[in-house]
Amino acid sequence: MAGSSSGLRGNRWWRSSVGRVLAGVTTVTAVAAVLVAAPGADAAASTLGAAAAQSGRYFGTAIAAGKLSNSAYTTLAAREFTMVTPENEMKPDATEPNQNQFNFSAGDQVYNWAISHGSQVRGHTLAWHSQQPGWMQSMSGTTLRNAMINHIQKVMAHYQGKLAYWDVVNEAFNEDGSRRSSNLQSTGNDWIEVAFRTARAADPSTKLCYNDYNIDNWSYGKTQGVYNMVRDFKSRGVPIDCVGLQAHFTGGSSVPGNLQTTIAGFAALGVDVALTEVDVTNASTSQYAALTQACVNVARCVGITVWGVRDSDSWRSGESPLLFDGNGNKKAAYNSVLNVLNSGGTTTTPTTTPTGTTTPTTPTTTPGGGSCSASLSAGQSWSDRYNLNVSVSGASSWTVTMTVPGPAKIIATWNVNATWPSSQVMTATPNGSGNNFGVTIQHNGNRNWPSVSCSTS
Ligand code: G3I
Repeated sequence: MAGSSSGLRGNRWWRSSVGRVLAGVTTVTAVAAVLVAAPGADAAASTLGAAAAQSGRYFGTAIAAGKLSNSAYTTLAAREFTMVTPENEMKPDATEPNQNQFNFSAGDQVYNWAISHGSQVRGHTLAWHSQQPGWMQSMSGTTLRNAMINHIQKVMAHYQGKLAYWDVVNEAFNEDGSRRSSNLQSTGNDWIEVAFRTARAADPSTKLCYNDYNIDNWSYGKTQGVYNMVRDFKSRGVPIDCVGLQAHFTGGSSVPGNLQTTIAGFAALGVDVALTEVDVTNASTSQYAALTQACVNVARCVGITVWGVRDSDSWRSGESPLLFDGNGNKKAAYNSVLNVLNSGGTTTTPTTTPTGTTTPTTPTTTPGGGSCSASLSAGQSWSDRYNLNVSVSGASSWTVTMTVPGPAKIIATWNVNATWPSSQVMTATPNGSGNNFGVTIQHNGNRNWPSVSCSTS
């Protein structure tokens, strides 16, 4: 999203890339020349997303589809955040209101808004005791188990290759570390494991997370219960990539002093860790600073998401727990978070200058006689990622193949049917939106543009 800061905008690469159009090999020489500037030691970033990106992290928010028509809301969200979690739109009651009849309209609305602003998306959530559709609530046993599997397969197929993370299972533990009673739990203790195995098979490109609240305090029973499950999964090869600490420090709870120990403990198991639904009663500046510091001090703490944009958007609005007030003004806690993010922590952004050339346009003629070409032009750009616009000409039925030089990777596309099973090679076909589409690339230090080729079918 538009997380550019004055420091980033002052970067020579940013200035030179905006508005630049690659239309042929002759342009490549010029591009290679301007890529010499590395980001270097930027001045303090002025948005949450840009500040977090300095250490390779994201800063996200929950977005509600029903608020996307509110320009005050979207302007703020687009400016500040680089990860979006649909607040309710990808939950089972939203995506499968009737058994085996899927509805992705609200989820797609949030997804499309997010990626068109350069944000990544975290899917939330596939298997949960709450917010089940009515037909699922009354199910049990093998019927429910099969319905859960089908739900995961179909929803993940819809978003295949598009989401950075998926909360596969949400809130499955009791406070003492035992499993929560639910219709899902009653299908057998292996339901969580089955959910993760099903998810990996359905979309190998996305990171699979377990997500829960009250797992922030290392010495708490629930934290240990989840930890033991993740450790068991890793030891037996059950696919799990990440743990989400919801970090709701509202409703009477507060940031524990050992939060960093907890984050580091999970990370040591070999999973990414994220704070996924942060809010803090009255937005205590010290607690917001502490939770941010705890994350940036652990290399595998990949990002922080606050659970809403403004206080008025919060599920606990009475506690004014977010970083912007109801009028969209920055609160003191905003500055405390920004300062921690700007003061560093674990830096994973490479500082070496990328070299090499790009091959932006490769017209291809197929044996059938049709031909097409694809050209690239720059879209929005941020410190950690950039958008490219792809324009196809010559045919209405085409397949564009894009190859991104590693370690850069494709993280999102729009206005096209696209898959990128390897993250670096994408295949795209028209989805009815016309011959122009977009792609977001996380550069990971390599800002060389991808090569594209076009073939007709
Ligand atoms: O949209 C309907 C509206 O049409 C209706 O008039 C109104 C009447 O109650 O309900 C509206 O739906 C509400 C929905 O939020 C949208 O605002 C639901 O009742 C309400 O239950 C739902 O609450 C959501 C809650 O999850 C449900 O469990 C919150 O927005 C959402 O922030 C919250 O998020 C959860 C995470 O998914 C998991 N972790 C905890 C977190 C906070 O509870």
